[in-house]
Amino acid sequence: MSSDVIRANVEVHSRMVEVYAKEPHFRPENQAKVRGILADLRTRAKGGKLLDLGCGTGFIINLARDLFDEIHGLDVTPAMLEKIDTSRGNITLHNTNAERLPFGDGVFDVVTGYAFLHHLEDFRPVLREAFRVLKPGGLFTGSDSTMSFRFRLYHIMDTCVPIDPPKFEARLQNAGFVDAHVEALPNYRTFKFNARKPS
Ligand SMILES: C[S@@+](CC[C@H](N)C(=O)[O-])C[C@H]1O[C@@H](n2cnc3c(N)ncnc32)[C@H](O)[C@@H]1O
Repeated sequence: MSSDVIRANVEVHSRMVEVYAKEPHFRPENQAKVRGILADLRTRAKGGKLLDLGCGTGFIINLARDLFDEIHGLDVTPAMLEKIDTSRGNITLHNTNAERLPFGDGVFDVVTGYAFLHHLEDFRPVLREAFRVLKPGGLFTGSDSTMSFRFRLYHIMDTCVPIDPPKFEARLQNAGFVDAHVEALPNYRTFKFNARKPS
């Protein structure tokens, strides 16, 4: 990804930090829903090691902190990471680009990416990296917004490459994943996905 795209991401997200908790996905009812998804993931995962890509101010990390033994959050924007409380001791933060993950192969039981993939010029390298760092049988899951006029306008100063849900299943398969499932949620103009690295 070009350094301009990264720079734009950092600039925009640094400006949003103080008001970020007002974003719609922080509504209590959505948090309860995502918490349920994470709890279910933990029961299906073989172990308790989670990586959250584009973790921002810790939306997923905060919902997962008592469910998983070891959580790694990764983001290019330092100001977002600074908002995350790591005092519990099971959370490690990495200020870096998700296109080249600073981990060896087969390390994580679960990788998540929430409201993150549309910020990438090309999400395919990140799918490949998520696949690489997962253990055999590891789970990849997340959610993102789909294209709308409002969404595009909202990202006028930023990179915004919304994903086309019907094509995303094939993209996950191209990266090596199996059991890829993509569900469009037109009422919310979002979709969610999950996939597994073969055992
Ligand atoms: C819309 S925010 C979502 C944050 C969090 N996942 C949430 O749901 O609240 C997108 C985040 O992705 C980060 N980001 C954008 N491009 C990235 C990249 N190439 N690698 C890592 N993080 C990136 C931004 O800095 C930002 O914090």
